[in-house]
Amino acid sequence: MPTRSIFGAQWGDEGKGKIIDLLAREADYVVRYQGGPNAGHTVVVNGNKFILRLVPSGILHPGKVNVIGNGVAVDPLSLFGEVKELTERGVTVDPRCLRVSAGAHVIFEHHKKIDALSERWRGAGRIGTTGRGIGPCYADKAARTGLRVADLLEPARLRARLTAVLVEKNALIESVHREAPFDLEQSLAQYSQVAERLAPFVADTGSEVRHAWKQGKSILFEGAQGAMLDIDHGTYPYVTSSNTGTAGIGTGAGFPPTQVERVLGVAKAYCTRVGEGPFPSEDKEKDGDTIREVGREFGSVTGRPRRCGWLDLVALRYALDLNGATGLVLTNLDVLSVFDQIPVCVAYDVPGQKGPVSEYPAHLPDIEGVRPRYERMPGWRVDIGAARRYGDLPKATRDYVEWVEERIGVPIELLSVGPERDAVIPRTA
Ligand code: IMP
Repeated sequence: MPTRSIFGAQWGDEGKGKIIDLLAREADYVVRYQGGPNAGHTVVVNGNKFILRLVPSGILHPGKVNVIGNGVAVDPLSLFGEVKELTERGVTVDPRCLRVSAGAHVIFEHHKKIDALSERWRGAGRIGTTGRGIGPCYADKAARTGLRVADLLEPARLRARLTAVLVEKNALIESVHREAPFDLEQSLAQYSQVAERLAPFVADTGSEVRHAWKQGKSILFEGAQGAMLDIDHGTYPYVTSSNTGTAGIGTGAGFPPTQVERVLGVAKAYCTRVGEGPFPSEDKEKDGDTIREVGREFGSVTGRPRRCGWLDLVALRYALDLNGATGLVLTNLDVLSVFDQIPVCVAYDVPGQKGPVSEYPAHLPDIEGVRPRYERMPGWRVDIGAARRYGDLPKATRDYVEWVEERIGVPIELLSVGPERDAVIPRTA
């Protein structure tokens, strides 16, 4: 059975949730391997909108096993908030369909606090994080002071480790940031309680997924955020704290990435970004506002208005190349229907370099000063939201899709033309 991965090929919010939900129908396991509740995967089912943060998007299909891998930063309070919401809306979430890795790192309240305080400390240099404690949790993982899900389940270990951790964190919070410290006994009580609820869901997920795969089960890996937010290969330091694509599968799911057969990037037919950092094809004028309005481009986790701009083929080719993409899903194509002309960024002008550059610059100082070069494609000015077959699309839309496809070097396999589950078009010849 095939192993597939879906990753964001831009700055996140590409519409991955819907595509994962679609492909989850054919999967036995849906596996998250990085990120945490900073993600907000939106799936619309019969007009009902679900926003999934930590729970994999396969949960909306009964009978699938959904895995939160060891590379995910798990906020147990947020997880059970999400489970409660899902359950209240009739979705079954129990240990048969959801597993949480014993090795996943835990986001504590102090991580969220430090996330906010660090942003304040950075001032104008802030990253614009989601405030979910992601950076501080992964920092502790790398510093080897983090607590993992397995540590929560052992009371003596939890007490010993949390005591040591809070001494250090409280010193930082009080001395540097001049804020009130966390109370150890209160934190212990809070997390001991949640540990009891978490226990039935905890498993050795890497081993389970590898076994399932060997037995012929179909595995779908669900990436969060996007390639340009990757800690190593994105627009550092304006990135998240994990490896957001193929590379993250090995470390974050305990599954060999060499065995992933199909790797699908997801990109919008334009670009958005939340938070700070370079965005060469951003449109700060009227057209950017139009994209935001028509595309409802507001953060699903934080509600922040997203920065909007045009499709950036330089960044997209880089993202697809980096992750070994075998195909692309182009989403939100319907949003472009309101434009007479559609600019697409095909190259950059980089300060100090002669002529246009079509390779993504590796260093932030280069990328910060780049100016986009656009080619303009004719728009189609027709509502395409009801189209379900490639042949139903206006010729100008098909021309746009095929023009993009020629320039990215991988096939466009699917198009999405609306938020609903069925608003997708397989790309046929
Ligand atoms: P963090 O992941 O909360 O630390 O935020 C770091 C950067 O990644 C900020 O610019 C966030 O806006 C961005 N980010 C994190 N998660 C997402 C996401 O799911 N979609 C889009 N941007 C995200």
